Amino acid sequence: MAINDDSPYRKAAAKLPVHFASVPRKRRALLLAVLLAITIFVLFKLITPSQTLLFFLFSPDIAGPYGEHSSSSPSFGAVKNQHVNDILQFIDPLIGTTNGGHVFPGATLPYGMAKAVADVASPAENAAGFVSDDNPITGFSHMHDSGTGGQPSLGNFPLFVHPGCIDDDYTKCDFSLHERPLKRVPGSVYASPGYFTVNITNGVRAEMTTTHHSVLYRFSFPGTEEVHYAKGVAPYSPLILIDLVDLMNSRSMGGIQVYPETGRIVGDGRYTPSFGSGHYHAFFCADFKGAKFRKTGTFVENNATDGKQFLGGVGSGYQVPRGSAGAWIQFEKPDEEMKDSILARVGVSFISVDKACENAESEMEDWDFERVERDAREAWREKLDVVRVDARGTSEELQTTFWSGLYRTLLSPQNYTGENPLWNSSEPYFDSFYCIWDSFRAQHPLLTVIDPKAQTEMIRALIDIYRHEGKLPDCRMSFCKGYTQGGSNADVVIADAFVKGLTADIDWKTAYEAVLSDAEIEPQNWGLSGRGNLVSWHDRGYIPWNDVDKNGTGPASRSISRGVEYAYNDFCISLLSQGLSNSPSLLGAPSTSEVVDSSYHPNISTPWTSLTTDHTKYHHRGANWRNYWNPSAKDLFRDRSFSPPPEVDSLSTPLSSQNASSIPGYILQSPFVGFLQPRTLSGTFRYHPTRTCSPIQNQHSCYYDTSLDVYEGSPWLYSFFAPQSMSTLIQLMGGPDTFVERLEYYHQSGIAYMGNEQSFLTVFQFHYAGRPGLSSKWLRTYIPQMFNASVNGIPGNDDCAMGAFTTWGMGLGGFPVAGQDVYLIVPPFFREVKVRAGVDLKSPSPLSPDSKKAKWAVIRTVNFDNAEMQGDGTPVYIQSAKLNGKRYTKNWITHEFFEQGGLLELVVGPEEDTGKNGWGTNQQDLPPSYYEDEKFWEEWERMDRERTERWKEEEEEKAKEGGNEVDDGY
Ligand SMILES: *[C@@H]1O[C@H](CO)[C@@H](O)[C@H](O)[C@H]1NC(C)=O
Ligand SMILES: *[C@@H]1O[C@H](CO)[C@@H](O)[C@H](O)[C@H]1NC(C)=O
Ligand SMILES: *[C@@H]1O[C@H](CO)[C@@H](O)[C@H](O)[C@H]1NC(C)=O
Repeated sequence: MAINDDSPYRKAAAKLPVHFASVPRKRRALLLAVLLAITIFVLFKLITPSQTLLFFLFSPDIAGPYGEHSSSSPSFGAVKNQHVNDILQFIDPLIGTTNGGHVFPGATLPYGMAKAVADVASPAENAAGFVSDDNPITGFSHMHDSGTGGQPSLGNFPLFVHPGCIDDDYTKCDFSLHERPLKRVPGSVYASPGYFTVNITNGVRAEMTTTHHSVLYRFSFPGTEEVHYAKGVAPYSPLILIDLVDLMNSRSMGGIQVYPETGRIVGDGRYTPSFGSGHYHAFFCADFKGAKFRKTGTFVENNATDGKQFLGGVGSGYQVPRGSAGAWIQFEKPDEEMKDSILARVGVSFISVDKACENAESEMEDWDFERVERDAREAWREKLDVVRVDARGTSEELQTTFWSGLYRTLLSPQNYTGENPLWNSSEPYFDSFYCIWDSFRAQHPLLTVIDPKAQTEMIRALIDIYRHEGKLPDCRMSFCKGYTQGGSNADVVIADAFVKGLTADIDWKTAYEAVLSDAEIEPQNWGLSGRGNLVSWHDRGYIPWNDVDKNGTGPASRSISRGVEYAYNDFCISLLSQGLSNSPSLLGAPSTSEVVDSSYHPNISTPWTSLTTDHTKYHHRGANWRNYWNPSAKDLFRDRSFSPPPEVDSLSTPLSSQNASSIPGYILQSPFVGFLQPRTLSGTFRYHPTRTCSPIQNQHSCYYDTSLDVYEGSPWLYSFFAPQSMSTLIQLMGGPDTFVERLEYYHQSGIAYMGNEQSFLTVFQFHYAGRPGLSSKWLRTYIPQMFNASVNGIPGNDDCAMGAFTTWGMGLGGFPVAGQDVYLIVPPFFREVKVRAGVDLKSPSPLSPDSKKAKWAVIRTVNFDNAEMQGDGTPVYIQSAKLNGKRYTKNWITHEFFEQGGLLELVVGPEEDTGKNGWGTNQQDLPPSYYEDEKFWEEWERMDRERTERWKEEEEEKAKEGGNEVDDGY
């Protein structure tokens, strides 16, 4: 069988797949030795006192058994009962695989590039491949993204398996994406870290497990001599196909080759990313083991042939630019010792077919399904071992909610180090930042605590992306730029690491340049990175609703939400300027700040003078959120119980105060006055309905590019976003009591939407008004009502960030205010939790593997039993607290606790004490606000008045000259 001359995959053919039986003696001996070593190692592990025990021996101040649950390992695979204390039994990867959670539930490693699962034909739901519903399965593919809200991502090169073809005629098997899908066998789906299995209704059971860049599938057959279908009888002779499609059906180029002598199939394709622009190129290399080959060939749609072993993609003139095209192999019955199963080993790569083959060969030379699964489970155990809980008294459902959430935050960003085709670099490369707009708030701060090594590598990857592409990404996937949803929030991720002391191994000079570039230099397409409307932002301190941006293009809407995020990004840059001027060595400068101020200069054209002036400049810009504050904006909404007069029946009729008074009884007004509102070029405000884009009013009207001034959230929501300046915001909202009333109303009224990450912080902002108990109360309403252990236990698409909400809220004793060294304390849902990833940042090489030496940070809930902590919504209030044995009244802690270890004891009870002796209620107990200088605001108000006067005159001048007429309201 000649290899088609067109085939570009010559080198791959040279390497024959390794068949176990044909392994030379010497190698067999080596394998045996390795197996022996593994056995000894496992035995050794069993007889060594467990880490838990060691821990108790050496940490006398911490009581309570951890991980005492005896394990019945839930895997259907051969790994059974290997570990007592198995935390993996509390991880259900299927949580969030329906109702828009878009969670990837398949087999993978922490940050793994290979992510194998069954793909389901569920249009709006299958962004991550699998969906817990009734729709048929289209194949098994090797790469996915978890939790995205964009288009279905990756899912390239799916395999599909038939036990045989009708009349033993391969052309009668179903090949195409339209013909081949089959339903799953009810109750056959099982997922656990590193493992996924499902049976499909042709009798095939598919199991999968992964290493970093390869997947091992085990397809098992009923073992009967024939399979009966409605259309006929198929003798037992399995056929496995590989299709060049992806989940989105976006292929624009590609090819595939099957080598009849070895059964190897290799191929590639060019595809489009899920929520971004451009293309990426992916490669695979598949080998099979367990049965002799009978026939091989290719197919286009449902037409299969054994006459052609190579297919060129659209580039070589195929009729089907999209849709099914691939290769197939038909096998004899599996070999005796394979027990009616065939193994498929698929390596993937973004570099080349050869790299894909290398990945598979080096990671799975042994073809040992159990070994790969065991290693994957061990990798997860090790990763998760940085958190331990004393779960006595906490329901299994809550434990599952907690551990599964933590697990999901480690699915992405994915480690593509060594797989980046775009540039040569010795820096790490991570991808699938989905999007930083979502993940900067809770997920990255979580990684800073539990996996500082990974967080450091991710930041280095972001900086390397800046180096080579000129901007930090906001969203990024599959080597492509993703769409920017608001600000340039990588600035926050970088500042967050910095203020928490995670500075080792990071090139701060370039990091600082990168954030300055976001703040100062508008890219041509700011829909894909950086910021837009920068001239107005710099000159006016807000993005006018009717701004004219001559320097770049992007979705010019969202003036409020982009504005408040730009302000917060700038505030975070001000923290970085300040921090770097205090640590000049991080910029490679001598050790005094004067020297760094005069000798350091960023390598970009910004109006730069010194770190000190930068600090002041960005601190000022950090106050710009206030430019959107319209103190007289009213909260108007429809009375749904009132049937409207016909003339205002259309939902698109904008509300205005005029409408309100003219239709008495129809338009209602809440008592809350003052909201962030869009502003015009002349400085006046426009009315933007305050509830639009919330679940109770036109929720789906403000996605990517609309005419609205907010993004995926209402002005109600965005009006709370001033984490840098909460005391000012509280004053503007009428003082702490009114603020608390407003925030409670927001959570009660249905305006809050917990399915999107911007809502996270609003649960905890009661802290700023001296009512930390209400944060705990609302947290315990949302968990478990909206965040729980059911398949739809996530209120919105996961983004690998929803789990960070539960991890912080349930376990780590506080919620991060990303970008600041601040965690808002809430009592855990456990008797006791300890966290140990804090590396000792003061040691010379803090990120070395010795990080295990780091100390535990322990959060203990005192009176746990009395407080009915079962997660039934019963509020739990902190009565008093101790940090390392000393009374602690602040309602927030800093990163030092996690980094240095310590003991935080929270005495809880069923009543909230709001009095003077209440915990965390006094002025000096509140988290920091960075704009408390009254002079600052006096000056700000004076300038604002003057500027507004001036702009008004300018606009009137223009109007007189026959220019734009400025619309001053809906
Ligand atoms: C799935 O298939 C396997 C192997 O054929 C079989 O042992 C198992 O019982 C099936 N599971 C279900 C739920 O049908
Ligand atoms: C499949 O083959 C048939 C018969 O040769 C042909 O008419 C049809 O166009 C082919 N379909 C595709 C999608 O190539
Ligand atoms: C990422 O992958 C590289 C290369 O395989 C590896 O050296 C590094 O340790 C990985 N990083 C993390 C955080 O797993």
